[in-house]
Amino acid sequence: MKKRFAILTVLLAAALTASALPALIPLPRSVVAEEGAEAFRLSPDSAVVSCSAFAREAALAASQLRPATGYALPMRTDGKVRGGDIVFRKSGSVPAGGYRLTTDDGIAVITASDRAGVFAGYQTLRQLLPPQIYAAHPHEGLVWHAPAVTIEDSPRFAWRGLHLDESRHFMGTAVVKKLLDAMAAHKLNVLHWHLTDDQGWRIEIRKYPDLTRIGARRDSSATMWDRWVPDGVPYGPYYYTQEQIREIVAYAAERHITVVPEIDMPGHMRALLSAYPAMSCTGGPFGPRWMWGIDEEIVCAGSDAAIAMMKDILDEVAELFPSEYIHIGGDEAPKTRWNACPKCQARIRAEGLRDAHHLQSWFIGTMARHLESRGRRAIGWDEILEGGLPQGTAVMSWRGTAGGIAAAKSGHRVVMTPSDTCYLNFSPGLGDRDPYEYPDATLTAEKVYGYNPTDGVPRAMQPYVIGIQGNLWTEYIWGRRDLEWKAWPRGAAIAEIGWTPQAQRDWTDFRRRAAHQARRYAEMGINAAPLE
Ligand code: ACM
Ligand code: ZN
Repeated sequence: MKKRFAILTVLLAAALTASALPALIPLPRSVVAEEGAEAFRLSPDSAVVSCSAFAREAALAASQLRPATGYALPMRTDGKVRGGDIVFRKSGSVPAGGYRLTTDDGIAVITASDRAGVFAGYQTLRQLLPPQIYAAHPHEGLVWHAPAVTIEDSPRFAWRGLHLDESRHFMGTAVVKKLLDAMAAHKLNVLHWHLTDDQGWRIEIRKYPDLTRIGARRDSSATMWDRWVPDGVPYGPYYYTQEQIREIVAYAAERHITVVPEIDMPGHMRALLSAYPAMSCTGGPFGPRWMWGIDEEIVCAGSDAAIAMMKDILDEVAELFPSEYIHIGGDEAPKTRWNACPKCQARIRAEGLRDAHHLQSWFIGTMARHLESRGRRAIGWDEILEGGLPQGTAVMSWRGTAGGIAAAKSGHRVVMTPSDTCYLNFSPGLGDRDPYEYPDATLTAEKVYGYNPTDGVPRAMQPYVIGIQGNLWTEYIWGRRDLEWKAWPRGAAIAEIGWTPQAQRDWTDFRRRAAHQARRYAEMGINAAPLE
């Protein structure tokens, strides 16, 4: 007889010997150790058996399990199952986005009702195997063993995101793909891609070639470790062609990650205004910014040509990105220029608006309705709430949580990313052990982990909180190594907040599992920081 016992609560889990527990991140809803059952073991004869609905996920899994094991892992769709096989099975009884994973009787069976769910189950199976399974090179002689368990799991939130700023520093296709692989391993499913800002325009727009010809380079950047001084080193042109964008979007989609692009407007637009100064209130000339901070120059909301250009850009962006949401920024747009601009003042009068702040609301509403007419929804930083917002538009709360709470109360969907708990570009608080700096702001993994996105949101409004996101602004991130240091393991804390029911989260248990996760990072070649 097999003995079963449920690991239903963290308390019960803590009572068991730590070594007996698989180190899963994010923690599943329910893990039952099948004591006495035959464990699962991948062997040279193992196959991946899948129904046709999950053939793509099964093929990706096989391709990712081959390098470390050196096994052939053929794909089979005949339904015949033998010991050592991995089985992908469809069943409507499993919640959307979730899965059931069993590894007893020597077979790994992942059951799900949809492709996202079976993919999540595969990520859990990978974590049950030795950490070397993440390696790109064979580990010969290793026993690829997984404990006998039954896992029932499904996500808490639909939006489990990381944000990547490529305007301040450009990372390139290889770095982004590696980030997407790491995100998938954490069941993170949204990449919010910040492609434009004052310091550089990073996406090819066919109708406006000067955006990248002029806007994708700058004369200087902030000096490493002394941000008040320009380094005098020309930067760029760096940008993604539309072909590269499509390749990255497809790579993400294979991993069940939605890429949500951001075109930040009407502020943070100096790279665009450098290329097309007529779209500003003053006419320029400008160059892309090297320094951090908020630029006075913003897009002229009184110019019909500027409004038309914004819509054209969003049209090309919508063609490249199939995401439900398109991010239109809306943050940090000073009204100095609008207050002094005859065209902006004329718009305020013509539209019957009170002032420049309501002009911002008009501008955002115009873009949101344009996206709606294309079958999409707009999302923007919490400033877009000021002065009113079309109903289908979602809000990303970054200046603390007040904006997100207010948005949820007025029936807008909200993604929580308050800077004091979700800005992963801040220093992880490791003191002398931290080779990468962020001036004047620290955010420890424990502080990230302690955040609950529904804190302060009335219970009835909590369904409007659709998720959580960790942000990686790159003013002080130059490339892959420092990017990964800032992203992990704090991104694992974000992943667990997004996936695991709040009542089951526990920092002490997360620390134990994060130690195993560190070994996986090493196998993946990720330059992760220590947890604390
Ligand atoms: C932001 O950090 N300006 C959204
Ligand atoms: Zn103007």
